[in-house]
Formats: sequence, structure tokens, C-alpha cells
Amino acid sequence: MAQLVGALTTSHVPAIGRAIAKNLQQDPYWRPFFDGWPPVHRWLADVKPEVVVMVYNDHGLNFFLDKLPTFAVGAAPEYRNADEGWGIPQLPPFTGEQGLSWHLIEHLVGHDFDITSCQEMVVDHAFTLPMALMFPSQAWPVKVVPVAINTVQFPLPSARRCYALGQAIGDAVRAWPGDARVLVVGTGGLSHQLDGQRAGFINKDFDLAFMESLIAEPRWATQFSSHELVEKAGTQGVELLMWLAARATLGERASCVHRNYHIPISNTASGLMVMAPAA
Ligand code: DHB
Ligand code: FE
Repeated sequence: MAQLVGALTTSHVPAIGRAIAKNLQQDPYWRPFFDGWPPVHRWLADVKPEVVVMVYNDHGLNFFLDKLPTFAVGAAPEYRNADEGWGIPQLPPFTGEQGLSWHLIEHLVGHDFDITSCQEMVVDHAFTLPMALMFPSQAWPVKVVPVAINTVQFPLPSARRCYALGQAIGDAVRAWPGDARVLVVGTGGLSHQLDGQRAGFINKDFDLAFMESLIAEPRWATQFSSHELVEKAGTQGVELLMWLAARATLGERASCVHRNYHIPISNTASGLMVMAPAA
């Protein structure tokens, strides 16, 4: 059966795309952010994932407000990036792992998750930038399966439901025939609010408590409704639901391989964690 090698969670701010394109990794503004990544590169070289299941939220590139599935799984042979209007370079296409896509869709629907399956899908910065951060050569060494969770238009799925989705994704990966090495990535957050009266809102205490909880007490955030999460983490900080789903794939106990937290990148508290299944 396939092996789930770990879960990696990271912010996905579009400005990262510009910093990469302009080689600003050593710039004083960007350094504390990019310095979080070399330990991740060493870990990736060690665990050698072959497939990435990317849990992220689309921001209006593939789904718009007219049709917005709560949970969607990609089942395309290839996923292309496209212009979102941020003025950042588009990244090379990603090869889909259609075998795992359909296995995942079958498993999730079979366990009562109502999934939208997408045989064509474009992927936005929430997918592409974490890939570019993990694999700076942009010669992607992995095949991919996108899993999109709606955090854009209310009503949002609850933290409890996202945790359950993550558990089911983990079970599906571990039951996938073959011996592929699979990494689950969750992108978004941490606290940020891009609009309204609280634009610029960041909540360091909550972010650090949330990161800590992923190791010490992974269900901690499921006590909060999505409105409470917006209150604590901001209208876009609720993207931390992706972190919760990714963490839940590992089961009850997990160890922290690496973490980084830095305020701010653009308008966002940037967080990075690598977690491994408990031995
Ligand atoms: C920013 C953060 C996001 O998560 C996003 O999707 C877009 C922009 C920002 O802080 O600029
Ligand atoms: Fe976002």
C-alpha cells in the first residue's frame, strides 16, 4: 500500500511569486520567510515523495462565486496555472496522478463526503506557490492530486468537517494499492484579513496556539465554528482549515519535523510546518 510520508502546511501569499521571480530570497524583508525552507528541502530529499495531495482553496480562478463546491477533487491528466491578475509569472504545468485521484474520489464518496470531481481544472497561487517553495527548480519531481476546500464564500465547511475530510484522505492514501510515497500539503493562513474594517488584522497568539495544537491536541480547532475562526484569524485566516485537513491525514499522533512563523508577508502571518506520522 502507499505510504503517507508526512504533512506540510504553509501560507500561500501571491507576493511570494514575485519574490521568487526577482530572486529576493536574501532581501531583508524576505529572508525570515525563505530561511524557513532549506530544512524542508533537506527533509524532502530524505523522504522523496512521488505524489503530492494538495489541499488548498481556489480564490476565483477555477471556481467563481456562481458555482463553488464545498469539496472538490481534481482528476485531470494535467493542471495548468493561469493569470489571476497579481502580475506574477505563471508556473509550468503539473502532471496529475489520475489513479490516486479516482481512488480518492471513490473512497471519499464511499464514506459519505459529497465531492465534486473535476476532470479539467486550473490551479491558482494557493497550489502553485507552495509547489515552487518546495521544489525551487520548478522541474516538478512529483505528480499531483488537487483537493479544493471552499473558504471563499459562506457557508464554509466546519473545522470539524474539514478534520473528518482529512482523516478520510489519510485512510484513502494508506489504502491505495502500490508503494507510492505520498505527501499531503495544506496551504493558506495563517491569520490575515484583506478586506473590510479589520483589513490588516493579524493574531499572533492565536496562530501560535493553533500551530502548537496540531501536535499536542490536533482536534483543538474543531471546537470553533467558521465564524469564530474568522473572528480569531481574519476573513482569509480561516484558510487554516486546510492546515487542519492536512494534519488530520496523519492520524491521532504526529511529530513536528520543522516549523517557522514570521509576521508579516504582505498582509499575512506566514506559517510553515512539517509533520510526520508518529513512529
Ligand atoms: C494575500 C494572502 C492570501 O492568502 C491570498 O490568497 C492573497 C493575498 C496577501 O497577504 O497579500
Ligand atoms: Fe489565500
